[in-house]
Amino acid sequence: MSFLKWDKSYETGIKRFDGQHQKLVSLINDLNEGMAQGKGKEIVGRVLLELINYTKEHFSSEEELMQQYNYPGYLVHKAEHDRLVKEAGALMEKHQSGAMSLSIETSTFLKKWLTNHILVVDKKYSSFFLDKKIN
Ligand code: FEO
Repeated sequence: MSFLKWDKSYETGIKRFDGQHQKLVSLINDLNEGMAQGKGKEIVGRVLLELINYTKEHFSSEEELMQQYNYPGYLVHKAEHDRLVKEAGALMEKHQSGAMSLSIETSTFLKKWLTNHILVVDKKYSSFFLDKKIN
């Protein structure tokens, strides 16, 4: 059974973003599986880096669309993205410096980090973009 299972409650209705969110869910599952199977620090670190990089890419694509359509919640949403990127960067730094070893708590933290953002912050743009027939 997956550590983080995608279900309809995560859907924003904007297909391009739902697809990207699903990829993020899959990377969190890979990270958790790597740790659960005791894979090496280097392998797990690579998955964490891929997750962080893909998260940044995803955030940029949401921000671009928001700016393009003058989404009224853009600044608040971007501030939340910036905060999350900063948190993820701090996690990566701690891991790379050896100050923290990746553990199940790391993937649990990232799971909450992502699902709270999708369910609370991303959901707010759904009706705005759907009204504009964007998906
Ligand atoms: Fe899907 Fe705002 O990140």
